[in-house]
Amino acid sequence: MHACTRFLNYVALRAGQVRRLSVTTTLREKDTNKYFVTQPIFYVNSVPHIGHFYTVVLADVIKRYAGMQGKSTKMSAGTDEHGLKIQQAAERANRDTLSFCTQYSNRFRDLQAAANVDNADFIRTTDPHHRQAVAHFWNVLVDRGFIYKGEHSGWYSVSDEAFYTELQVEERVDPSTDKRGMFAIESGQPVEWVSEVNYKFKLSGFRDRLIEWIEGSQDVIYPEIRRNEVLAWLRAGVDDLSVSRPSSRLKWGVPVPGDDEHTIYVWVDALVNYATVDGYPWGDNKPSFFPPDVQVVGKDIVRFHAVYWPALLMAAGLPLPKRILAHAHWTMGSQKMSKSKGNVADPFEAIERYGLDTLRYFMIRNGGIADDGDYSADEVLVRHRKDLAGQLANLAARCSSERLGVKLDGFAALGQALQRDLDSRDITLHALLTELPDKAKSLFDKSEFGRGLGLAFDVLAEANRHITENEPWTLVKSSDPQQQARLQVVLFYSLEAVRLASIMLLPTIPEKANRLLDHIAVDTSERQWVNARFGAGWQTPGPKQLLPGVATLFPKLA
Ligand code: MSP
Repeated sequence: MHACTRFLNYVALRAGQVRRLSVTTTLREKDTNKYFVTQPIFYVNSVPHIGHFYTVVLADVIKRYAGMQGKSTKMSAGTDEHGLKIQQAAERANRDTLSFCTQYSNRFRDLQAAANVDNADFIRTTDPHHRQAVAHFWNVLVDRGFIYKGEHSGWYSVSDEAFYTELQVEERVDPSTDKRGMFAIESGQPVEWVSEVNYKFKLSGFRDRLIEWIEGSQDVIYPEIRRNEVLAWLRAGVDDLSVSRPSSRLKWGVPVPGDDEHTIYVWVDALVNYATVDGYPWGDNKPSFFPPDVQVVGKDIVRFHAVYWPALLMAAGLPLPKRILAHAHWTMGSQKMSKSKGNVADPFEAIERYGLDTLRYFMIRNGGIADDGDYSADEVLVRHRKDLAGQLANLAARCSSERLGVKLDGFAALGQALQRDLDSRDITLHALLTELPDKAKSLFDKSEFGRGLGLAFDVLAEANRHITENEPWTLVKSSDPQQQARLQVVLFYSLEAVRLASIMLLPTIPEKANRLLDHIAVDTSERQWVNARFGAGWQTPGPKQLLPGVATLFPKLA
């Protein structure tokens, strides 16, 4: 038996709850060159907002960054269409449920395209092949002895699609209606008392294994604040999970196989999407990309991804994700975005107004992994004006004016020479440029792209100071060969800063960064992460010339 299968069966046995362990899944470790990023799938009860856009872009940046390191990548995206929340929203709108879902699902599909997402496999949970996959997954859990029927009482939040215990709810006045009621403490959403017969998943038996899994690697849940939160939940103890609702209440979902009186819990259904997109159930075939390397989720859905999902996978004998990346949320005017408060930004409008790459840059630079970011039109404009136009494009324009006569053909050799022979006037910038790639990489590897890009822009600021102090526009007037040689060195440092920053910006602003690299004649084969190294540019043989147009790359915004 393969080690992976043995381990997973051991998990099942340790849980002490195996009735019939007839289904075994033999999965070999996947090819390490394959990299699988998942987006959460979006509820289709309303249109996308800027927070959704952030999740999408962050996942895309992670995928593109992996691609730049030579990985073969895959990304999943989609819409979460079953459950009470959607069923009730369609009823309220007096609409046929599926066409209601289709309408909103299409908006989320449009968002992928509008955000310039690099090729995501888009899944709808109403897709027949997904529904079959969910039924199969359920049967595997039953066969392996992890599902039983039982009485369940608790507080249910339709908005969160989650049960809460007595300790997780509080009584208070709802400010929007002035009425007293019960609310989930964690999410602030209203809850209703439910007492019914449900199918349950033996989650409690996985508690120790989950703790071991999380403690086994610092990174499996990132950032640390979320990791600690999950460990605290687990240490406090977990109950078994109710995984079905009576179909008299919930019709809109996947029926429990063999028992039409019950509908599978929407979160089990939704989580399985991450396997369906890679062809689950695999039968005798090996999955191509599963398990995910990074699962991007918002901080509000950590419990589902870091507790329920890995436990379900252990129970089904499937490998666990490598990393759950839980990002913080976007607020507006420092308040939680909400339609009733009217502080929700429309990503389509924002793209139209600022340009896609400016918006992507702003979100990645200002958006937090651990800390919430505040969305503000003024801040988007500041990032555009100061960073993209003021530091990046401005530096590119300053060193590429025709009258300075840059000689790019000599830059490969010059880059080498400068690593041996360093002028005292270049020491600071040289050191910054040399250190930048590794420093940025250590942050990028943790998906801290905003902080990594902050370092790149610090270096660009220094490069702008360097060109001002070293005055290439004066050097070019001299006929002294030494001054002419110095001119090329000064220009090299500016262009090297633009080159390194642009390569680092490729995952975040792919269109504009590529145009900048076109402008400074960096061959398309030299735009991988390995090329982001001091003196490693302009290696491709053949004549190289600056292209015009850099001045209009980030035009003035009103
Ligand atoms: N359908 C579930 C996810 C199922 S995944 C198997 C869901 N959908 S959602 O539409 O409510 O949220 C989708 C994602 O958007 C979540 O990761 C959520 O955290 C994120 N965001 C929702 N509001 C957000 C902000 N204000 N800011 C940043 N991200 C936000 O949950």
